[in-house]
Amino acid sequence: MNDSYAPTPDDKFSFGLWTVGWAAQDVFGPATRAPMAADRAVHELAKIGAYGVNFHDNDVFEFGDTAADRDRKIAAFRAALDATGLKVTTATTNLFGHPVFKDGAFTHNDRDVRRFAIAKVMRNLDLAAELGARVYVCWGGREGAESGGAKDVQAALARMKEAFDVLGDYVTEQGYDLRFAIEPKPNEPRGHILLPTIGHALAFINELERPELVGINPEVGHEEMSGLDYATGIRQAMWHGKLYHIDLNGQTGPRYDQDLRFGAGNVGGAFWTVDAIEDGIAKGQYTGPIHFDFKPPRTEDDAGVWVSAAACMRNYKILRAKVRAFRADPEVRAAREAARVDQLAVPTLADTETWADLKDATIDVDRLAAKGMAFEHLDQLALEHLYGVR
Ligand code: GCO
Ligand code: MN
Ligand code: MN
Repeated sequence: MNDSYAPTPDDKFSFGLWTVGWAAQDVFGPATRAPMAADRAVHELAKIGAYGVNFHDNDVFEFGDTAADRDRKIAAFRAALDATGLKVTTATTNLFGHPVFKDGAFTHNDRDVRRFAIAKVMRNLDLAAELGARVYVCWGGREGAESGGAKDVQAALARMKEAFDVLGDYVTEQGYDLRFAIEPKPNEPRGHILLPTIGHALAFINELERPELVGINPEVGHEEMSGLDYATGIRQAMWHGKLYHIDLNGQTGPRYDQDLRFGAGNVGGAFWTVDAIEDGIAKGQYTGPIHFDFKPPRTEDDAGVWVSAAACMRNYKILRAKVRAFRADPEVRAAREAARVDQLAVPTLADTETWADLKDATIDVDRLAAKGMAFEHLDQLALEHLYGVR
């Protein structure tokens, strides 16, 4: 094994506690692995070289725990963080597991559930702030419906806005240095989920009272479930200054949420994803952790869980090396020039021009129409870097 692919703290790799902690229960059968306490997940993640963790409130303590049990479990989690030096980069709320959330949380038809949900988030925001998280993820997994008559969609969006407005007031008034990141997903567990894609979420944020506190946390698999290109989506999010967090994993086309380890599934998509992230980091457009939200398949035992988790980080670094080699390759530079890629950065009108200069300008349409774009050569160079022959 080439050690230059071993993770270091500078890589800022982080994992959700629920990823490695998933006991692999699914719709067709019970768990195939033992439950994992949060403190064990922290110790093991530290051993394989992770930098940070993300947690749902109920990854650390159970929904119905007494105050004493909750405090004891949080203390064990905190002790594991202190012992390992792992950071809490991110936190989130479980608003989907308990039966009370069967119709969602912020957009449940029943007002009492909505009130309970916002309070549950506020309580975990306190813990998140205390543990040093800077991003608070909001995945509305059950915010949606199976049937058209069940949900007044516009009222649901109004209630969703209300929740984010209240939570924005809360973090501001508490003085917490925390921003929210909405995680889009098109379906599963609901038939249709509200804010299903990056684009829907970005548009929604504009309607909020404190849009500056809210960005997005796109997940590879969720965009690909809608047939969308993740790299293009996160580049747009960064263009809006809204990429606050990322959930990296693997997916093979539109189907159920596979949550494969990062780098598996759509390999070409993973290459361009790393290219987009690294470009965003270089331009200061992305400052969050390199976060993995995957699930070690149900076939794996405990040892397999750690193999799968370590592979997420290793694959990121392998792809990063390939992306860098691609960008530095003189033949690639020439191919980009031939494909006129860099010309797109030149404004269409010169500084002093207006529409009047354009309207009657002479353009040689026949010459331009006849000229090829040479994208195939450029893309073949990318594939050859990816396939390891350059
Ligand atoms: C999923 C989601 C979740 C969220 C997590 C954080 O499809 O199950 O990706 O894993 O990311 O709940 O909010
Ligand atoms: Mn997912
Ligand atoms: Mn996710």
